[in-house]
Amino acid sequence: MRLTAEERSWLGGEAGPALQRAMEIVVALGRIYGAERLIPVESVQISGVSYRNLGEAGLRFLRRWVEEGARVRVPTFLNPTAMDLAAWREQGFDPHFAARQAEIVDLFAQMGVGAGEPMPTCAPYYLARPPRAGSHVAWAESSAVSYANSLLGARTNREGGPGAIAAALTGRVAEYGLHLEANRRPTVTVAVQEPPRTVADFSALGALVGREIGRGIPYFVDLRVEEPLREAKLKALGAAMAATGAVALYHVAGVTPEAAQFTPPAARLTVGSLREGYAMLDEGGDVDLLWVGCPHASLEEIERVAARVAGRRLRRPLWITCSRAVRRVAVEAGWAERIEAAGGRLYADACLAIAPLRDLGIRAVGTTSAKGAFYLRNLAGVAVRFGTLDDLLDSVVS
Ligand code: F3S
Repeated sequence: MRLTAEERSWLGGEAGPALQRAMEIVVALGRIYGAERLIPVESVQISGVSYRNLGEAGLRFLRRWVEEGARVRVPTFLNPTAMDLAAWREQGFDPHFAARQAEIVDLFAQMGVGAGEPMPTCAPYYLARPPRAGSHVAWAESSAVSYANSLLGARTNREGGPGAIAAALTGRVAEYGLHLEANRRPTVTVAVQEPPRTVADFSALGALVGREIGRGIPYFVDLRVEEPLREAKLKALGAAMAATGAVALYHVAGVTPEAAQFTPPAARLTVGSLREGYAMLDEGGDVDLLWVGCPHASLEEIERVAARVAGRRLRRPLWITCSRAVRRVAVEAGWAERIEAAGGRLYADACLAIAPLRDLGIRAVGTTSAKGAFYLRNLAGVAVRFGTLDDLLDSVVS
């Protein structure tokens, strides 16, 4: 692999042990994937932030980076933690867990993540100016990776935890995978017989397609994506395909920015009824909690929920997860107040799929997200009710 003089000096340890170790990781990844060189990235998103997943070993790993003087070189975002870093008591978290979770975020802050004030979120494209089409980034969370590649036309592989930290410290990634034009071609044409309409429909469709095509790159030929919540529908579609499969890029004819460059591939998948997707995700039954905001909610999604619950009283809590920046605007707009009056809450920083939900006394969760359903069941170990927002809200209205 060709390295610049500066990269060679970092690898040789001339800029300290943290940068040396980061370079070793970036270069090792490049060798594994046959990259010829490293390329600069405009931003990084680091995942693997929950204390539930990292544990004490992960904390020691992060403390070592900080002790060695690790500092990020490019704007770096942080994936959600298990809890709202301010409202964890209200959510029911144990103080020991909360202290450890807060320390993890603080260690990232000391490395300069979020300019020293991380706002953990899986939707970093709502925090800052989103990456431009054709720009290279190194993002880690699978729905954010899909969003960056597919909706924005930026270029990123799905970075692992240490790989993303290494990219943040060096400002570089090895040039392979979806950073290369040739690897962004669609591999499967997808035809959809039952047009999806709601966010949950797009989620169910994504769950079916992801399950069938695994790592492929789908090209949807006849998918209409109408307002309202057009962007949320595409976000849900990508998140679902990344959860039940490993789809990191998809194209929709007439919708996504790179679709016009390609013709539909010969391999073909036809999706019949979306009911199959609902059946795959929905276990039915009553829920302890409704969850909206997987991936983290946009302002449009929060406004919509506020309109739906106005004047109603829910007999189960409704938790909406989003970034702090989005919540701030939702509070100013009065939507948070309307949601709280109905029995809901807006929580920042948090992802329920990586939270110890059973320790919080939560056994069953309702969601409109296929990705949420997939991980609530497989990671958090709780039962899932999957449905449209209206159906879920109707099921818990007093
Ligand atoms: Fe985000 Fe967690 Fe869903 S990271 S995409 S809220 S599973």
